[in-house]
Amino acid sequence: MKVIIPVAGVGTRLRPHTYTTPKPLLYVAGKPVLEHVLQPILELRPEEVIFVVGYLGELIKRYVEDNFSFKARFIKQDELLGLGYAVNLALKDVNEGPVMVVLGDTIVRCNLKKFVASSDYVLGLMPVNDPHRFGIAEIENGAVTSLVEKPSRPKSNLAIIGLYYFKDVVRLKDPLASLVSSGKTTRGEIQLTDALEMMIRDGVRFVPFQVDEWLDCGKKETLLETNHRLLEEADYAPQLDNALVIPPVYISPSARVSRSVVGPYVSIARETIVDNCILKNSIIGEKTEVRDMVMEDSLIGNEVSIKGARRSLNIGNSSEIELP
Ligand code: G1P
Repeated sequence: MKVIIPVAGVGTRLRPHTYTTPKPLLYVAGKPVLEHVLQPILELRPEEVIFVVGYLGELIKRYVEDNFSFKARFIKQDELLGLGYAVNLALKDVNEGPVMVVLGDTIVRCNLKKFVASSDYVLGLMPVNDPHRFGIAEIENGAVTSLVEKPSRPKSNLAIIGLYYFKDVVRLKDPLASLVSSGKTTRGEIQLTDALEMMIRDGVRFVPFQVDEWLDCGKKETLLETNHRLLEEADYAPQLDNALVIPPVYISPSARVSRSVVGPYVSIARETIVDNCILKNSIIGEKTEVRDMVMEDSLIGNEVSIKGARRSLNIGNSSEIELP
């Protein structure tokens, strides 16, 4: 099986972080998002992983090559014309066999072996509260009967989560190529969802597969929620001599934390220094220095230096004070 991972997006909702770090390389629970995505995929021993890269793609390529040894290929997406366009590029030299497509920011909890074994054509789905933001599936008698990309009047709440399996890539390749050459767009983009809808019209039976959990990494709030969730599961509880740790937290062995209270739900990446701080529910990148800070619900990048204010106070009885 080959795996296609589109990672060319700009990550607008995660600026300023994504000005310098592509979204798949942002840290969550001690590892880049992409590492969380790749780990379960690699257990399936794919024959090759094809990354469709664009924005800051060199960094993704370097990260994969420096940290993994699986067979990887990188295809450059010249224009951001949509997910259908990206997958079509990846399929250029793939002419047979099974293919799985996984979005580069889709951390899902499910048994991937069961996912690919469940049928010949499988679509990962999850009920959501805001279906107009996603590709939406309708299901009848255990099969997907229609797919619509971000409908204004959704007919169900079952969202496409970005996990797709095709036993025979040819069934996808032909309709996708004709969609791309027709130039047809939905909401301004060449949609993979539209090609899948064409496959269904052609008689391909897609079976829905509900994943156990789907962890979003698209914006600051959801990245922090995902950090919370993943730490809870990993249950790291490092012991430090000179700091109080309230688990779960992730502290890289090369980070230096002193005179601080850290946790719960804090991730501190490698070679970062934290001194005299109280940190809660935050992600701190690598080679960063944080001193004299009380911080909560924060997302701090790499190579940052932050120093909080120290104040000398002289406060009388019955005072009420809120410091900015
Ligand atoms: C893409 C897919 C959409 C799916 C979503 C999941 O949309 O086109 O069908 O529901 O990913 O995150 P995007 O988020 O790229 O707009």
